[in-house]
Order: sequence, then structure tokens, then C-alpha cells
Amino acid sequence: MSTSDRERWEARYGREGLVMGERVKPLVRELEPVLPWSGRALDIACGEGQLAVWLAQRGLDVTAVDISPSGLAKLRAQAEAAGVGVRVHGIEADLDHGLPALEPGFDLVTCIDFYSPAVMAQARHLLAPGGMLLVQVVLERTGAEARCKAQRFGADEPAAGDSPPPGDSPHRARSNEALEFAAGMRLQFWREGNIDGRALAQLLAQREPAGRLPFSA
Ligand SMILES: C[S@@+](CC[C@H](N)C(=O)[O-])C[C@H]1O[C@@H](n2cnc3c(N)ncnc32)[C@H](O)[C@@H]1O
Repeated sequence: MSTSDRERWEARYGREGLVMGERVKPLVRELEPVLPWSGRALDIACGEGQLAVWLAQRGLDVTAVDISPSGLAKLRAQAEAAGVGVRVHGIEADLDHGLPALEPGFDLVTCIDFYSPAVMAQARHLLAPGGMLLVQVVLERTGAEARCKAQRFGADEPAAGDSPPPGDSPHRARSNEALEFAAGMRLQFWREGNIDGRALAQLLAQREPAGRLPFSA
């Protein structure tokens, strides 16, 4: 799985320019006022680094993890060009084996368009008291969408529970599943459904600040 992930993303990021676009995702721009301005951030599956560099420009020290050397090279180039190279630290790692060893105490953990419940469970333990978790995951297709896609690709119609149709990704969340990433935390923002033409779940949750009992007034 990971070898093919690496090859697939290397092929994409090996192209010239920023293939994922120049700007951070709309969710980040929308929630920007409530995100931290300082401290440490971890960007999981950082891709070419648009978000990691944006966070560093905002004032955070950023650790960014991805499987793709070409993506990480673009992260480095963007960070240097923006004058925040010293604030960005890229790590090449296969997240199918979990997060690499990291010093806990992150004020913000972000994971945009990468789905791994196991990694999310680990990431929550790396948050500092009061730290925030920002996640966007792509949702599984509904039965009708899957059938439509299978027909387009000329495959047999999949039954419920079959593996995804050709061209579809196995890295998709079930409806409401991403809510579990916020278990035991304060849910600050949650939205799921068709968002700008994509089937997405979006979540912002906060670990209880130090000295506060969960759900105290
Ligand atoms: C849809 S892209 C999202 C990138 C970035 N978060 C963004 O919003 O532009 C998914 C990312 O996950 C990374 N990825 C896929 N499988 C991975 C794995 N097993 N370990 C680490 N990173 C992986 C890819 O290299 C790619 O950068």
C-alpha cells in the first residue's frame, strides 16, 4: 500500500509547480481567526507544504510529515522562499506505520485530506493542553455514487461492502466517523456533507486547557 502511495504521490508532486494549488484549503481560511498564532504545529501528510509554510509565516514552529520526497522538497523550497525555513522541519515517513517519534506538546495538529484513524489517535496524545486538532477528510461514496463511478470505469456494479470502485481511494471516512477523532476533547467546529462539490467531514477540536476539568463551566 505505502509503496504505491509513494509512487502515486511522487508522480504527482514530480510535476512542475504546486499541483495542489497555491493557497491553503478554504477550511483553514475560514477557521483562521481561532487558530493559534504561536507555539508548535504538526502538519500530517503535508504534501507540498502550503499549510505548513502558512502556519510558519503566522508565527508557529512547524513539523511537517509526508511520504513523498518530492512533496517535502517543495515544502523546503516554499519555506525558504517565504523566509521561514528555520521554522519548518520536514520529515519523510510512511504514516501507514504510524507517526514518527515526536516530542509531544503541539499547540496545533493539522491533517487535511489524509485519512488514518490510527494516526489521529496518536496525534491527539501529542497535543499540549489547550492544543487544537484541525482535520478534513474525504467521505466514502454513497452506494449511488459508487455505482455511478463503477459504471463510468466499466467495472461491475459493486455491492455494499465491496472494495472501492476503480479510481476510488480506500482512504475515505464513513459518515460521522471523523467525530471520533474528537473524543474527550471540546468540539469547536464540525461540518459534514457536500462542501464546495466535495464530500467532506471537517473538524476542529480542542484539548482541555491545563487546570480545567472537562466540561467545567
Ligand atoms: C490529498 S494529499 C493532501 C496533501 C496536503 N495535506 C494538502 O492539503 O495539500 C494526501 C497526502 O498524503 C500523503 N500520503 C499518502 N499516503 C501516505 C503515507 N502512507 N504516509 C505518509 N504520507 C502519505 C501524500 O504524499 C499526499 O501528500
